[in-house]
Amino acid sequence: MTSMPPSCTPGPGPVDALAMRGVMGRFATGVAVVTTGVDGAPHGMTVNSLTSVSLEPPLLLVCLTTGARTTDAVVEARRFAVNVLSTRQEQLALRFARRGEDHFEGLGVTQGLHEIPVVPDALVHLECTVVRVMTAGDHEVVLGEVGRICQREGKPLGFLGGRFSDVVDRGHEVVPWFF
Ligand SMILES: Cc1cc2nc3c(=O)[nH]c(=O)nc-3n(C[C@H](O)[C@H](O)[C@H](O)COP(=O)(O)O)c2cc1C
Repeated sequence: MTSMPPSCTPGPGPVDALAMRGVMGRFATGVAVVTTGVDGAPHGMTVNSLTSVSLEPPLLLVCLTTGARTTDAVVEARRFAVNVLSTRQEQLALRFARRGEDHFEGLGVTQGLHEIPVVPDALVHLECTVVRVMTAGDHEVVLGEVGRICQREGKPLGFLGGRFSDVVDRGHEVVPWFF
């Protein structure tokens, strides 16, 4: 059976932002909220740019829009938490993606170590210390060392094609090197 040929942009040269966003949306991810605190004020934003970087030492990265309130707060505090959301937390994902709003209003926030706020009932909290910040285009790549992990039962919220989605376990064999 022959497959359809791919549809390509003309190239060479940088693709435009909409094409980039659209195609990256086909790379399915989870959804997390990056939280931090500066002078007792909590900050947080929804992200899907979370990537595991290293196991020894334990490093992860998030890419945060340059100049966003939470980005500035993370850079100032030098600490942040990554809160991985569950399928029950779609509304929280939307809340923490609204620009210019007080994302924490009416939310019963709990504190992790070092007075960093964490999202209640998140599947996982990873509490991190900033080890490096690199400007890349219109984002700051923030590398964090993970100092503490908390986790609970639940199903992860997915993000695909600009929509929230379920992540389905296909029940196939485990990937051999994972365990
Ligand atoms: C599913 C989803 C994923 C997102 N991922 C990111 C991300 O990885 N990095 C980023 O800078 N913004 C991301 N955003 C947009 C921010 O959540 C949004 O700009 C937020 O309002 C910024 O918060 P602040 O400016 O109040 O700090 C995402 C939004 C959604 C809905």
